[in-house]
Amino acid sequence: MWRRGPVWLGVGWAAAYTECGGTELVAQDVWTVAREVDKALQVTHVPPHYGIELSNAFFSLERSGALPGAIEDCALGVAVLALNALPQAELRWGTRKAREYYLLYEELVASYGHMWNMSGFSWNLKTHQSAGYPLILGLREQSCFGLPLKIYVYETDFATKPVLCSQGMFASEVFVHQFLLHSSCRTENPAEADFFFVPIYAACVMTKEKKLADEMDSFYKTLVMEKLPYFSDQGGRDHIFLWSSETYDFPSWQDYIADSLFLSVEAVPIECTDFDFFSEETADNFGAHCQHCHWCFTRWKDYVIPGFVERWSVEKMSELEKPPERRSYTACYHGADSDALAIYKYANTTVRNDLQTLNGRANFSIGYRFARITEYFERIGDCHFCFAPKGLGYWSNRLYEVLFAGCIPVILSDHIGLPFDDIVDWGSFSLKWPMAEVGPALAEHLEWLLEQRPSLVQKMHQAVMANRCWFDYNSQDPNCSPYLGILRYLQRKRAMPRSQGPTWDFASPPTRGSPRDATEKKSPAEKPTLIG
Ligand SMILES: *[C@@H]1O[C@H](CO)[C@@H](O)[C@H](O)[C@H]1NC(C)=O
Ligand SMILES: *[C@@H]1O[C@H](CO)[C@@H](O)[C@H](O)[C@H]1NC(C)=O
Ligand SMILES: *[C@@H]1O[C@H](CO)[C@@H](O)[C@H](O)[C@H]1NC(C)=O
Repeated sequence: MWRRGPVWLGVGWAAAYTECGGTELVAQDVWTVAREVDKALQVTHVPPHYGIELSNAFFSLERSGALPGAIEDCALGVAVLALNALPQAELRWGTRKAREYYLLYEELVASYGHMWNMSGFSWNLKTHQSAGYPLILGLREQSCFGLPLKIYVYETDFATKPVLCSQGMFASEVFVHQFLLHSSCRTENPAEADFFFVPIYAACVMTKEKKLADEMDSFYKTLVMEKLPYFSDQGGRDHIFLWSSETYDFPSWQDYIADSLFLSVEAVPIECTDFDFFSEETADNFGAHCQHCHWCFTRWKDYVIPGFVERWSVEKMSELEKPPERRSYTACYHGADSDALAIYKYANTTVRNDLQTLNGRANFSIGYRFARITEYFERIGDCHFCFAPKGLGYWSNRLYEVLFAGCIPVILSDHIGLPFDDIVDWGSFSLKWPMAEVGPALAEHLEWLLEQRPSLVQKMHQAVMANRCWFDYNSQDPNCSPYLGILRYLQRKRAMPRSQGPTWDFASPPTRGSPRDATEKKSPAEKPTLIG
């Protein structure tokens, strides 16, 4: 018997799987939309309703049993539908279903991808998130970089939609969690854990599920008091929380987790008495209720981590970047200031407004945002220096972004805390300039560097290329990635909580909790009850 499939390609093979003519059950329009979206995703973000439309088409194909026929008509069209349906599938049926669809997508591309090349039509077959899916969905085993660390990873109710949450500059909250979950550092035995990671996709649930500060606060309180059975053993010192934005999204954190270890993108977080200021309408709350907190981040226990830049952007930028010697612009900046974005009226973004005064200077590209993101990437990839001014917080995701365009960052944020400054030499690939002195003198300095010190600038460009893997959450380089940076830090910190166990003796390692707890904890499967 003949089996129809990629192995047997009889007469008319070019039509089978690649025709996309539509069938009785699938209108041809579906493939037209799939192609348009697939194409548009190469250059821009697509409005979310397209994703939902493609998801619905895919779900109804699956439900009606029309999938095999649809694959025969338009295999890669189905792959595009499946890939774009992942976030909706996760929302409706959970991450397991999303993983199933991702595997189907991979299988279709592996089986039918080559035929499309022969038929002279190419598909993009990517979304802005898809490069991260193998990590997010646990399809790739992660190492522990040879470190002897053991990390226990909790489950929480606010870390359940990794696909949906793997989007935008706050996605470090998802990637670090998923990395640990699938890495060989992970232990399921709390008794041998050096650290306990508490995953919470705070930025995601606050933006996507519109959780308010009060709800976050009570979620965290209940979590710490009732759902982290090992928290009190060491007073929370061996528990890790990650903050992916400029605020700690647990308003009462000081009363509950002050001794825990924080991984944070911001070294001077914003503390508010009213936290619900994150919208344009309520922007004036910010000035009235919030301030930078210089003691919230504790240097000896907390650690700065980079913000998140999507793999899609990283790839686009590396396609578009020019070699240093062919770059035409001295310096670039395209971003919002208080004239363009209400929220910036209440944070001091004078530095952003000052930057706009350099607009019009020869060989400078200064202005507001480009409509098309790829146009922006192309511009900064044609530029020697890129300004990275403070925003609402002192950190700046732009700082990491410009590195992927091979642009030398000029940091304009006086109190910024930089990630991995114990590993990389920031001075070798970036400049920092006082915010109050942004103006012609800065521009002249950069021009002078280019004209008078070209080999130094060349060296800095090379250092940008060599160091940027530390900031790429999709890096698979075993010697250079944010995960390695974070784990090395934890490795150094490991000595601290270990020496603070209440009981140990020569023959056995330090034990958590009281001696009584320790006996009860002999069987790791049995979870001890919290606070009797
Ligand atoms: C199609 O061809 C291009 C260039 O020849 C190649 O890079 C790509 O991987 C091919 N795609 C598939 C799905 O085989
Ligand atoms: C602008 O750059 C070009 C070369 O890219 C250079 O010849 C010219 O002198 C520069 N202009 C200024 C004002 O720096
Ligand atoms: C705002 O920042 C600028 C530097 O960019 C500084 O000169 C100024 O004093 C600051 N204003 C306030 C009110 O803090």
